[in-house]
Order: sequence, then C-alpha cells, then structure tokens
Amino acid sequence: DTKAQNSAVEESILDGSRFVRACLRKPVDRTPVWFLRQAGRYMQEYRDVRKHHTLVEICKQPDLAAEVTITAAEKLGVDAAIIFADLLLPLEPMGLDFEFQAGEGPVVHHPVRTADDVKALRTDRAADLDYVAKAISKVAAHFKDRLGIIGFCGAPYTLASYMIEGGGSRNYIETKKLMYGNTLAWNSLLDKIVTVLTEYCRQQVQAGADVIQIFDSWVGSLSLTDYRDYAFEASKRLVRAVQGMGVPVIYFGVETAGLLTDMAATGADVIGLDWHQPLDVAWRSVGYNHAVQGNLDPITLFAPVEILEQRVKEVLRAANGRPGHIFNLGHGIVPNTPVENVQAVVKMVREFRLQETSL
Ligand code: CP3
Repeated sequence: DTKAQNSAVEESILDGSRFVRACLRKPVDRTPVWFLRQAGRYMQEYRDVRKHHTLVEICKQPDLAAEVTITAAEKLGVDAAIIFADLLLPLEPMGLDFEFQAGEGPVVHHPVRTADDVKALRTDRAADLDYVAKAISKVAAHFKDRLGIIGFCGAPYTLASYMIEGGGSRNYIETKKLMYGNTLAWNSLLDKIVTVLTEYCRQQVQAGADVIQIFDSWVGSLSLTDYRDYAFEASKRLVRAVQGMGVPVIYFGVETAGLLTDMAATGADVIGLDWHQPLDVAWRSVGYNHAVQGNLDPITLFAPVEILEQRVKEVLRAANGRPGHIFNLGHGIVPNTPVENVQAVVKMVREFRLQETSL
C-alpha cells in the first residue's frame, strides 16, 4: 500500500536528516540541535588529543580531525556534526603563513596590506586543502545518514579581515583602510578568496558534507552601507556557487541585527543568529522564506540549570513551531563551559513540546 510506504519513507527521512530538512524549512518531528564549536577545549577528550598535537596538526590529519568531530557529536547527542577544521586553513595555499599562538589566537606573519600583496596571492592551490575533504569522508562513513554533516568556510569579508589585520582585531582599521582606500585591490582580494573557497567547498560537498556553513563572524563590524558596498556581492556569489553544488547554505555572523535583511538577500537557506535579539524579532528581519539557526547566549551555559532551561525554552517558544528552526548558540562554546550543561541543553531541546508554553 503506497500510503504506508510513503509514511515509512517519511519516517526514515526524519530519522536520518532532521537537520537538513529543517535547513530547507520542511516539517520535522522535533527541533534539530547542534552547537557552534561543539568540539573544542571545553571537552576533556579534545584536550587529551591537543596534548599530543597542535591545532593545525589535528586539522591536517584526517583520522584525528574525524575522531575529534565524531567524539564531540556522539558525546553530546546532537543532530549534526561540524567537521573539525579552522577558518584560516585556506590562507596557506593562498601563500600566507600563519600560526596559532597560545592565548593569542591566530597570527598571520606577512599580512596583506597593498595591491601588490593582493596580486601575489595564489588561487591555484585549493587542492592542497583536500585533507579537510578526507576527514569529511571519514565522518560520513561513520555516521552514514544518522547525522547531518556540516562542512564550512569563512565568508570573504571575515577571511579578508584576518589576512589584512594579521589576526583578530578590535577596530578593523587596516581592513577598512584597504576597503575604502583601494577598492579595486579590495575587490580583487575578495574575488580571489571566493575562487579558492568555491573549490574548497566543492571538495567538502563531494566528500559528503550535507550542508555548508559560511562563517562571517566579524561582519558585524560593518555598517549596513559598507556591508552593501563592500561585502554583500562576494558573499552572495559564494552562497550561490555552493547552492549550485546541491546543498543548503547556512550564513552566520555576530552582531548582525542591522544586517539580517541584507544577509538574507544573499539567498542563503539559513541565517545563523547571534543572541542579541529575541529569535522571533530576528526571524522577522530575516524573512520567513529563510530558515534560522540559533540563538542562545553561549555564556548562559555557565548559569544555574533553572535559568539555562528558561533561556532554552524562550528560544524554542520564539520559534513557535515554525518549520525551519535549528537550535544552536548565538556564537561558539567557550573554554571551561561545563559539558554537562551542553548535554542538558540537548535533552531540553529533545523533550520540548510547544504545548508546555501555557504552563
Ligand atoms: O566544533 C567546531 O565548531 C569545529 C571547529 C572549529 C574551529 N574553528 C576549531 C578551533 C570551527 C568551526 C572554527 C571556525 C573558526 N575559526 C572561526 C569561525 C567561528 C567563530 O567562532 O566565529 C573563527 C573566527 C576562527 C579563527 C580562530 N581559530 C580563532 C579566532 C581561534 C582562537 C580562539 C581561541 O579561543 O583561542 C582559533 C583557534 C581554534 N579553532 C580552536 C578550535 C577548537 C581553539 C584553539 C586550540 O585548540 O588550540
């Protein structure tokens, strides 16, 4: 009987790809959940691996990267696994050396400052990044259809800011100097980044990534006008190129309240929200023709469990059962976060029923 067969198929789809269905705003049995930086220093298993390997070593050894990815996802019981890698990896094949200094974050040794520096960047060596795709293949072989697998890359603006500042930044002065002062060089830089990232994402999708997340972590440093003039087009091109590979795209940034409508205009399937606005307010700005992901303040994970539960439910109620919500934090898990609180959030999301709202 076809009807019974269809519903059986429907159920097996729900089991295997709750997360991917939510990205596409299809109905799901419950809200899918995963966490930004779910594999990291807050987790003992990760710290144990880090005792023997640097961050970049873990990224470059597919067995290790896959192990770290799988361990975190299994331990938390989440619906999606994000591949363990770093935003800055594409800098190396473009010709920029960097390292992670303890407590300092990333340092790029010869940052891009001039048109000649931009000219010297290479775009023909994206294939060198295939260790990430190899790790994704291993994660995909492990989870099969049990979990969604997320590949990722930085957005053009955020990656350019690291290349130009040489690391994290408070005011993005060098970035904006190049952006305003030599817009031709700036556009050429973004073009080169998009070329490399498109190829990098293609490798990840071919290896089994179900969804690609584009991290525009520092886009909130731009005014709306500057976002429109200097960042939007390159992001949009990358989003569309990845969608052309047949997977949904999540586009995420922090302090984006004023940018959400324009970020959504890139066409990304899902907009990742920070925690500064209630989710329903932010979703209205994004538009209901896009899914949203978020948006618990990651530091709530340090609160007493009663407060944590109130805040988790506040996010879920704000989504109001509308198809297309993926539960997540508004930014990454920080070191020293109690793992049991992260696990408790997974349980709260799994058990939440909208009817509880009136209680
Ligand atoms: O589980 C996951 O989320 C996957 C792993 C992941 C890492 N980096 C590993 C990592 C992901 C998704 C990233 C992306 C990334 N990297 C971003 C975008 C996400 C965001 O937070 O907005 C950014 C901005 C970077 C650049 C970066 N990498 C910084 C600024 C730092 C230092 C920050 C710090 O807290 O020290 C890193 C290092 C890094 N990347 C760590 C991890 C687990 C921690 C350092 C370590 O293990 O030595």
